[in-house]
Amino acid sequence: MKRILLKILFLLALSESSYARRKNPDSWGHIISVNSSGALSVKAREGRANRNLDMYVDKISSIPSDAFHNLTSVTSFIIRPRPRRLDLDRIWECNPRTVDITPQSFNGLPSIEYIFIVCVYFQNALKSSEGFDFLRFLLFENNNMTAIPQEFCEDSPKLELLIVRYQRIRYLSPESFSRMNTKVLKQLLLEFNGVEYVEPRTFAKFRQLELLDLSDNNLEILRNGTFEGLDELQKLWVFNNSVNNVEPETFSNLKNLRLLDLRLNRLETLSRGMFDGLSKLERLELFGNPITTITDNSLRVTNQLSHLSLSFGEGIQIEPNAFRGFNLTFFILNADELHHLNAGVFSGCTTECLQLMSNNTINISPNLFKNLTITVGVTIFEPQVSVIDKKSWGLDENVFIKQNPPLYEFASIKGHLY
Ligand SMILES: *[C@@H]1O[C@H](CO)[C@@H](O)[C@H](O)[C@H]1NC(C)=O
Ligand SMILES: *[C@@H]1O[C@H](CO)[C@@H](O)[C@H](O)[C@H]1NC(C)=O
Ligand SMILES: *[C@@H]1O[C@H](CO)[C@@H](O)[C@H](O)[C@H]1NC(C)=O
Ligand SMILES: *[C@@H]1O[C@H](CO)[C@@H](O)[C@H](O)[C@H]1NC(C)=O
Ligand SMILES: *[C@@H]1O[C@H](CO)[C@@H](O)[C@H](O)[C@H]1NC(C)=O
Ligand SMILES: *[C@@H]1O[C@H](CO)[C@@H](O)[C@H](O)[C@H]1NC(C)=O
Ligand SMILES: *[C@@H]1O[C@H](CO)[C@@H](O)[C@H](O)[C@H]1NC(C)=O
Ligand SMILES: *[C@@H]1O[C@H](CO)[C@@H](O)[C@H](O)[C@H]1NC(C)=O
Repeated sequence: MKRILLKILFLLALSESSYARRKNPDSWGHIISVNSSGALSVKAREGRANRNLDMYVDKISSIPSDAFHNLTSVTSFIIRPRPRRLDLDRIWECNPRTVDITPQSFNGLPSIEYIFIVCVYFQNALKSSEGFDFLRFLLFENNNMTAIPQEFCEDSPKLELLIVRYQRIRYLSPESFSRMNTKVLKQLLLEFNGVEYVEPRTFAKFRQLELLDLSDNNLEILRNGTFEGLDELQKLWVFNNSVNNVEPETFSNLKNLRLLDLRLNRLETLSRGMFDGLSKLERLELFGNPITTITDNSLRVTNQLSHLSLSFGEGIQIEPNAFRGFNLTFFILNADELHHLNAGVFSGCTTECLQLMSNNTINISPNLFKNLTITVGVTIFEPQVSVIDKKSWGLDENVFIKQNPPLYEFASIKGHLY
């Protein structure tokens, strides 16, 4: 679901080489040698300068200083395990191979734009003594890191996209990024790192950041100030954490945010003013939270809101008018707790599509949807679709029924947002 970006980048980097057909991915552009102690050295093949340097790490134990000397035409650099099958989706499930490096190991790559380092563990400090003047995309995946490798991109003034994932980074603070000199970072993806805490002002120096992904970590609290300085942020993913506490005004400075994804967390109360200040928000994803309290104005985000997903916990209380005035395109509800809601709770709300998701036979209180205006139709996702009593549900519009669909089908939309 979230691997699309990585795949695109890989394909981009590999587009010049017929990766699938060759045993050694780099047998034409470069002469790659690994001596009997596992030391790597690479030379450009005479007259066959190739922009891609793509290496399998399986036999490499060290990258000595200047292993890549004079590779002036190389723009993309990949080091990764030999794929067992052509399934790039599972490539991080390997044990990282330990490789020794020096601060001069990555010298001699003056034109580099893309670096992908997958399933390699560097015991010594990862630094680059020359820097990377043209580096735009940097990916580290499954490298057993306990901190952001900021010293590696200390001199990468053009870095736009940094992905650091499948690591063991428990804590993020302004210090985590203090040595990076880039001001043009646009996308920062930090999934699957086991992050438990993010200090306020951690991302404050990234004034151009448009996308921040903190999904699939272990965050419990979002502190006020965590997103300070992110005036240009458009997409914020905190999908699949354990967030149960969002301090007041945490999101209030995100005036350009269009998507806020808090799916699969532990939020119970949507407190008054929680989403204030999000004047451009178009999508608010709260599916998979045990929400029990929605006060009458907590969801009143902005007139721009067109996509809202919600789940409910046991004993849900929704104040009348909580949804009045909404004009949505998609309204997605977890239908399993709908029988706790009162008739007419969605009064005054307009949506093109209402989607009901459920694992059970949906049991709806009479007239629940009375005075909810649906302009296109209702889609119901449940394993055993029962007879829909449109009238008693308060629905007069078209009802589309999908039997046994994947319940989280709509979650794949995350991929399309890149
Ligand atoms: C392999 O290369 C490294 C670095 O160039 C060197 O230090 C080492 O002695 C070499 N090992 C053998 C067995 O040649
Ligand atoms: C790099 O190439 C230049 C000229 O092509 C040559 O003079 C120099 O010795 C080379 N450096 C190394 C470290 O091979
Ligand atoms: C990960 O790093 C720790 C030290 O931080 C080390 O003890 C451990 O062996 C490493 N694991 C792997 C798989 O390299
Ligand atoms: C949520 O994240 C955890 C790691 O924190 C991962 O093991 C799990 O598969 C993720 N769940 C989903 C639905 O992506
Ligand atoms: C949230 O933090 C900002 C500064 O980052 C501060 O101005 C504001 O007063 C704080 N709000 C609350 C409710 O603490
Ligand atoms: C909702 O928005 C659509 C356009 O986005 C508009 O045509 C429609 O009149 C609006 N409906 C209400 C009830 O505001
Ligand atoms: C629906 O709206 C009408 C007119 O505003 C109102 O009289 C009625 O009570 C509403 N029904 C429900 C169930 O809220
Ligand atoms: C359906 O069940 C699965 C597995 O138990 C669970 O992860 C998911 O959240 C449930 N979906 C809904 C809509 O409750």
